[in-house]
Amino acid sequence: MTEDEQKQAAAKKAVEYVEDGMIVGLGTGSCAARMVDLLGMKVRHGLYITGVPTSEATAAQARALGIPIASLDEVSVIDLTIDGTDEVDPEGRLIKGGGGAHLREKIVASLSDRMIVIAESKKRVPQLGAFKLPVEVVRFAAPALQPKLEALGSTPALRLAKDGAPFVTDEGNYIFDCDFGKIDDPSDLALTLSTMPGIVEHGLFIGYADIVIIGTDDGVEVTTFEG
Ligand code: 5RP
Repeated sequence: MTEDEQKQAAAKKAVEYVEDGMIVGLGTGSCAARMVDLLGMKVRHGLYITGVPTSEATAAQARALGIPIASLDEVSVIDLTIDGTDEVDPEGRLIKGGGGAHLREKIVASLSDRMIVIAESKKRVPQLGAFKLPVEVVRFAAPALQPKLEALGSTPALRLAKDGAPFVTDEGNYIFDCDFGKIDDPSDLALTLSTMPGIVEHGLFIGYADIVIIGTDDGVEVTTFEG
């Protein structure tokens, strides 16, 4: 299967978990977009769900497909979130944020009864860290945080938009893509980053994934993790 076919297969499997009446967290990225497309098709055929988008891009896609969407002042509990990932390790720990949406993604995942992660097989890694860890920071703190992220052993690069200006997230913040190399203790790093003033959110998702669905050459592989 090509990477696109693997993404499509993973997305197709994931939407099987969506039931009528559910409130569904809608992830961001190319794999998640396939899942949203498939949900849009189901909605056209009578499925009733409410989507909680994790980005403005996903919100626009859902609206265009006629999927009813709600914000967090309208829903407090989300039945199921389906989202992509940049890396997933054998324990279901993730690096997310390649699309710059990990802040809202983590908030939505944290409010969800279950999180299903979907991806193509190349996202499966023995150890997290080949993908540079996205760290979202408030703009005011960015100059001060760069050396602090270096002191933690990373090489942080301010993410730039296509026009060369700093990339700005949906929440108005900047992102440092931090090369930590292989991350030996993701929980420890997550805790360290979470306690640094000015860091809004990092892309380590630990203990969030309940089900990981990977598209492979031999079909989809479904792994369930204890929540
Ligand atoms: C966005 C994300 C995406 O889920 C992640 O970047 C994977 O995207 P894609 O499916 O396009 O590879 O975390 O913030």
